[in-house]
Amino acid sequence: MQLPNYNEARKRNNDKVEKEFYELDSSIVNIGLNKKYHVKTYGCQMNEHDSENIKAMLEQLGFTEELDYEKADLIILNTCSIRENAHNKAFGMLGRLKHLKEDNKNLIIGLCGCMAQEEKVVEDLMKKYKYVNFVFGTHNMHRLPYVLNESIKTGKQYVEVFSKEGNITEGIPVKRENKYKAFVNIMYGCDKFCTYCIVPYTRGKQRSRDKNDIIKEVKDLVKKGYQEVTLLGQNVNAYGKDLNNNYDMANLLEDVAKTGIPRVRFMTSHPWDFTDNMIDVIKKYDNIMPSIHLPVQSGSTKVLKLMGRRYTKDDYIELFDKLKTIPNVTISTDIIVGFPSEDEDDFEETIKLVNYCKFDNAYTFIFSPREGTPAARLEDKTSIKEKEERLYKLNEIVNKYFLESNQKLIGKVVDVLVDGPSEKEGMLCGYTDTNKLINFVGNSDSIGKIVKVEVTDAKTWSLDGKEK
Ligand code: 5AD
Ligand code: SF4
Repeated sequence: MQLPNYNEARKRNNDKVEKEFYELDSSIVNIGLNKKYHVKTYGCQMNEHDSENIKAMLEQLGFTEELDYEKADLIILNTCSIRENAHNKAFGMLGRLKHLKEDNKNLIIGLCGCMAQEEKVVEDLMKKYKYVNFVFGTHNMHRLPYVLNESIKTGKQYVEVFSKEGNITEGIPVKRENKYKAFVNIMYGCDKFCTYCIVPYTRGKQRSRDKNDIIKEVKDLVKKGYQEVTLLGQNVNAYGKDLNNNYDMANLLEDVAKTGIPRVRFMTSHPWDFTDNMIDVIKKYDNIMPSIHLPVQSGSTKVLKLMGRRYTKDDYIELFDKLKTIPNVTISTDIIVGFPSEDEDDFEETIKLVNYCKFDNAYTFIFSPREGTPAARLEDKTSIKEKEERLYKLNEIVNKYFLESNQKLIGKVVDVLVDGPSEKEGMLCGYTDTNKLINFVGNSDSIGKIVKVEVTDAKTWSLDGKEK
């Protein structure tokens, strides 16, 4: 047993991060024979990608995937902590699994991901959710086969969560969900400690992967015919800062572009670390997609300061204007309303900023206090009703700009990487270089390829078109 500890998780050190290689003990490779697994994923792309690793590790143990969780022998919930509703969803699912387990005593249930790093959650799991067989954290995902084996062997709940991040483990197998688009981790953890955010506690200190491992992974994907990579990290622009080898995100982006992969995306960017060199590289390479996610969080400099974001409203706008010099670029953002002490004037500042930036897409949230973070301890006088009203008002405005941004494309021909059949019958769907969803009439031979599509209509959330 090893339990999470927030005091440990909060600490940062200069210990050198070593590289380790994933290995599997041959004595446990058969524990999943004739058994079926189901992995349910909550949260961000980082979690989605972790689930691709989890699935591959389970398949090495002999398990096969079952899409209907009610028919699985092993169910793993890969959880998210970012807001209260992510918690509620996972706990709601655990409630349903309790009933399943009453009917099937042999069902094995595991929980991992960011919630597993939370002291309070693990305490609850050990007291009130004894039917959960095993828990492992984000720092020891590669230990899944051993944790699972231990819980099967002992027949007791087994918890193994490390609070301090360890080394970087290379070589974890991966079962990619998509044949054309791949996620590639470039860094783990985050050292920014925005005051509302739980990620620095659940994912540990920033650790960048060796550039050679990243480039090799991308080159292998190119060989396999992949059309797109998304470079993943909590704060990708800070890539390399912890390695001190004069090689930063601009260098990495350039080297990834040079592999010849048709499309490169990256997320998420923090405005603080977005350099002019990065902007130059994006402009220089046609295969780096002109679509940037740049969370602003608030338009009020006062609130930004309380959030620990390290930039003012004017700094953000200055960077935004520079990014707008990238031809055809689209910029999306994240905004939190109802941060403690945000008043009507602060909210109006956010609206003003939105009216200036006219974002192409935006994810908007009500502040959710996360236990253990500094913002959770701030006095918060605004009622939930007022916060909901602010969110509603903000959404009306951002939605108007999404539609305008889409309408500008009517009549234009855009490049689309075709994902497959659309939910709209008889149509295909895919994403433009600027990351807009498009449903279109086209040829099914185009699936997995980048094709030209004429935009015929625009909605708030998607485009319609026909293949040229
Ligand atoms: N409450 C509400 N939204 C949050 N986010 C992160 N932490 C919180 C929180 N405590 C939002 C931010 C971030 C996105 C991934 O989630 O906008 O950019
Ligand atoms: Fe959720 Fe953040 Fe963890 Fe992703 S890293 S799963 S968004 S808490």
